[in-house]
Amino acid sequence: MDKQKKVNNQYIGGTAVNRVKLNNNVNDYKQKKNNYMWNDFKDGISHGILVSNLAYSLAKAMKLEEAECYDLALAGLLHDIGKLELSQYLYGRNNDGLSIEEMKYMRMHSKLSYDLLLDYHYSDNLMETVLRHHECYDGSGYPDNLQGEEIPLGARIIRVVDEFAALIADRPYRKAFDIDTAVDIMIEEVKNMDMVVFITFQRMIHEPETLQLIEKSKIEINDIDLED
Ligand SMILES: [Fe+2]
Repeated sequence: MDKQKKVNNQYIGGTAVNRVKLNNNVNDYKQKKNNYMWNDFKDGISHGILVSNLAYSLAKAMKLEEAECYDLALAGLLHDIGKLELSQYLYGRNNDGLSIEEMKYMRMHSKLSYDLLLDYHYSDNLMETVLRHHECYDGSGYPDNLQGEEIPLGARIIRVVDEFAALIADRPYRKAFDIDTAVDIMIEEVKNMDMVVFITFQRMIHEPETLQLIEKSKIEINDIDLED
């Protein structure tokens, strides 16, 4: 083999090896990203079902009309849909929780959920609940720092059950809290919540029907192979 041919073959061989390595890296990246998104999807469905069931019960306990209770059940299921959209951009986040930059990004999700649902003719009540579900009673929430009764009642209800559902679920960086510990943690943060809603929730949460509802809301979603 003359010198030039040898150089060319080495070059071609090297390029092919690099291409295979690159493809492997890309496939590995896609697989990991898919796994992340699939886990976020599973967590989102489980969380949505529990929030939906608890929001309906709490709305009933607060003597809201049936149509409003139903809106809250639906809002409970859909409120975090924007997170699924964001999930693909937060691939690679570490398991200790989100960085400040990622937190800023994640705080866009309630507006994103609202925007995603705009074309589907949901009631104004449901849409406002989704948009405002991270507003805090003391004005420290997002997206608009609304406070007190500026925040729609539905969003104040979701705020309470959403927090509770998150605390009693496993997270990559911590195990689930038991119900009593979750309520204690919420008491420490009670300035964020409507006191009337929270007290009604506290009365409701230890009732046998609510405990049963929490158990029934735990659904098992089996893994699927996303490459199929
Ligand atoms: Fe949320």
